[in-house]
This record gives sequence, C-alpha cells and structure tokens, in this order.
Amino acid sequence: MPPSESMEPWRVKKNCRVCDSSHLIKYFDFGKMPLVDSFIGAGEPGDLRIPLEVMFCPACAHSQLSAVVDPKVLFSDYLYHSSVSRTFSRHCNSMARDLKKLFSGRNNLKCLDIASNDGCLLIEFQKEGYQVIGVDPAENLCRLAEENGVPSIAAFWGMDAAKKVVQRLGKLDVITATNVFAHVDDLHGFLEAVYAALDDEGILVIEFPYMRNLIKYNEFDTIYHEHLSYFLIKPLLTLFHQQGMKLMNLAEFDIHGGSVRVFVSKESNKKIPVNEKAIQHFLELEQKEGLHTLAPYVNLQKNAQKIREALRERLRELRALGKKIAAYGASAKGNTFINYCRLDLNDIGFIIDDTPHKQGKLYAGTHIPVVPQAWLRQEKPDYVLILAWNFASEIISKSPEYQTQGGKYIIAIPELKII
Ligand code: TYD
Ligand code: ZN
Repeated sequence: MPPSESMEPWRVKKNCRVCDSSHLIKYFDFGKMPLVDSFIGAGEPGDLRIPLEVMFCPACAHSQLSAVVDPKVLFSDYLYHSSVSRTFSRHCNSMARDLKKLFSGRNNLKCLDIASNDGCLLIEFQKEGYQVIGVDPAENLCRLAEENGVPSIAAFWGMDAAKKVVQRLGKLDVITATNVFAHVDDLHGFLEAVYAALDDEGILVIEFPYMRNLIKYNEFDTIYHEHLSYFLIKPLLTLFHQQGMKLMNLAEFDIHGGSVRVFVSKESNKKIPVNEKAIQHFLELEQKEGLHTLAPYVNLQKNAQKIREALRERLRELRALGKKIAAYGASAKGNTFINYCRLDLNDIGFIIDDTPHKQGKLYAGTHIPVVPQAWLRQEKPDYVLILAWNFASEIISKSPEYQTQGGKYIIAIPELKII
C-alpha cells in the first residue's frame, strides 16, 4: 500500500463511493495486475503492476475496487475508438430517437455526451436534429470528434467542464454517460456537475455493465483498473437520492456482455412518470439472486478458479501434443483473463486483433505480441482462444476457412468450451 505522499500513480479507496461506509469486504483478489489497456510499443518502458481487488459494501450492496489509479495514467491518450463497431452506432441512433419521443418530438433539443470519445454517439444525435457537445479527457479523441463535426471540450467531467458547457450551449435537455460511469471515482461530484448542467426538465441517461450479468455469466475478466465500480440498481437508488435526483426508468440490453440503461431526472421533475414497476422488477431479481449479500460474489471467485484450472489443464495437454495456440481480440478483458490464468508467451504465441493501432504492440504484463489477422493464415495455429468472447460470432464468421482447415476455437467464459 503506497503512503499518501508517494509518487505511485494510484491510491487506496477505503470508503464505499456510494454510501461512504468504511466496512468493505474483499471478495476477489487478482494480486498485482498490469494496466490491461496499456499496450507497449517498441522501446517503451516496462509495465506498471497495481493491486486489483474487489470489495463488497454490505451496507448498500455496491462493489468497487480497492485501488484508484490516476485517471491521467489511464485515459489521457485512450486507444479505444468507439466508431469501430457498427453495432454501437446503431445502438446510439436508437437512443437518440427514443429520447426525442420522451420530449414529444420537440426540436432543438440539446445533448451533452460525457466521455464522448470520437463523437460516435453525438453524430447519431446530430442526425436526429439535436444540438450537441462532447466532453472527453483524451485530446486525440476530441480532435477526431471535431474532424467529424462534433464540438468537443478536452476535459475530465466535473463542475469546471459543466460551466464551460453551459456557457457554450445553455442547460441541457439530455446528458448521456454511456460507458463512463464505472470509471468515475467521485460519483457524487460527477452527479453534482450533471445537476448543474441539466435543465430542470432534462434527462440523464447512464449506461453501464450490469453486475447481475457479471455474476450470472462469470464475466470476471471484465474486472480491471478502469472499472472502479460494478453497479446494481439498489445502490444507485441511494446514490441518486443523495444528489436530489431520481431513477425514472430503466432497461436491459445486450451490448458489452449485458448492460443496463437508466433514465434519471431531478427529483423536482414531475413531467415524466416514474416506472415503479420496472424498478421493482429489477430490485426483486437482485434480491432473489442474493446479490445484496456477499455469497454470490465469493462464488464468482470460485468459478473463476475452476475456469482457470480447466483451461490450464487443457493447454498443458495440447502443448504436450505439440499444438500451436494463439488468441483473438486484444481486449482489456482479455488481458485480465491472460494474467489471471497466468498464461504467458509459452502458452499463447500471439494475439490477433483487427485494430490497426494495437498491431505491432505488446500486451501489457505478458508481452505477447498483437498481430494482424493475416497471421491466422500464415502461422496456422491449431487452437485460437477467443478473448473478446462478446464478439465471438463476428470473429468466427470472419475466417470461415480457418475452421474448414481443421482450426479450433477455445472460449472460456462463461465456461470452457472448444468449437
Ligand atoms: P472490447 O469488446 O472492446 O473489449 P474491452 O472493453 O475488454 O477492451 O474488445 C474487443 C477487441 O476485439 C478489440 O481490441 C477489437 C477486437 N476485435 C477484432 O480484432 N476483430 C473483430 O472482428 C472484432 C469484433 C473485435
Ligand atoms: Zn455502500
């Protein structure tokens, strides 16, 4: 544990970031892990390792990491470009339309996207006639967004950014935060800034991977330093209430392995009725599955161990038979997986990824090289471990000849299978 005056780029979070309780119970300990999304280029220094542990708060049922890595280390030159996925663009467009309906088709709606990336979501909102603005800490992505015609401010979200946005556009009808909420250390500060920028009848839309699915499908590999929180609905009710806001409605959808979209408004907003039935439905499911207690989380660690043992055993057998093994999808979760399973270059020769800026780099921690798809034909691995299991069917359909020539795939989550 680094002392507070240390130069280490991380610190320990001792209290629950939702309810502030100091009684937190550790249930998943990965040991020290590399930053899974930091690829290493030629001549760059080696990698940092930081403890990765998940804690449960019995008071409010929130799960969070014990370590908070300096966001500047994690996000200021982020490699992730959301526009790469067509599924995601469609998803954003339907969100823009659905929200417009909530405002009775009103024109001139103003939308802010927090962590706007390359402007992918806001482009879809522009198509539906919204005035838009993005805020994102990565300057390279803001430049890209501006080139795409999306006005963007390079900043971390907070009161300063909120003031700038309101100066430029006035108060917002819609604020979106898709795939950023789990990254936020100060949730209360984040929502205070949202409250300041949101019109009194405005709507905040947050999307996040749902902890219920992580538990149900053993998605332990989605645990990494960027994901500070793992959300259920119950603790969110507490959080919104403390900020003078309320949950109005919510829905589950299948992106990033099972996410939830919540609609939030100021408590004073009586324009749109609260969908009590839907909220109750989610709370009951969580309760029925024991998710407000420690037991299922302890079980997750056990299941992860079983997957690790089964995979290591299988790889040992395959290696003994002289089989060549590679992987596909140099995702962040894939790197958690590789490190947790203690795999290295002896197990996995290379990782194929179709993202050009990942190719030619090394996976942090194990230094397994990331290579283009051509390696599948040139090197002819006997087995390919699909690390980006959320895209398994897309990846498999890209190379039909690999399977017809006898190549096999391994998928390890939710359980080990070979196809
Ligand atoms: P992603 O699902 O974004 O996961 P994470 O958030 O854990 O990083 O990662 C998917 C990775 O898989 C990404 O690096 C792109 C890669 N990929 C391919 O190389 N080819 C494909 O056809 C698809 C769908 C993804
Ligand atoms: Zn709590």
